[in-house]
Amino acid sequence: MGKKEKVSVRICVGTACFVQGGADLLLYQDFLDPVVLAGCDIHGISCISGCKDDTMAVRPPYIEIDGKVFGEMTQDKLCKLLREAVHA
Ligand code: FES
Repeated sequence: MGKKEKVSVRICVGTACFVQGGADLLLYQDFLDPVVLAGCDIHGISCISGCKDDTMAVRPPYIEIDGKVFGEMTQDKLCKLLREAVHA
């Protein structure tokens, strides 16, 4: 079996997300534990369109984990989601 792929994480840095909490998420190096950081490939990305989608049940800030969009993201929620994703 090959090495486990890193979890792909995109943090939206578009205006709507950035001003509604996305800026806090960009401090991920300060609040994610080193094991989780090592298992993830994390980048900022400009608007992932969640803010323009009226069918979205959740509000900004949005992030994407392995292509799946999550909204109303907080540092705590991101810690939990990535811990699960890395250890899955
Ligand atoms: S600014 Fe984040 S989804 Fe549009």
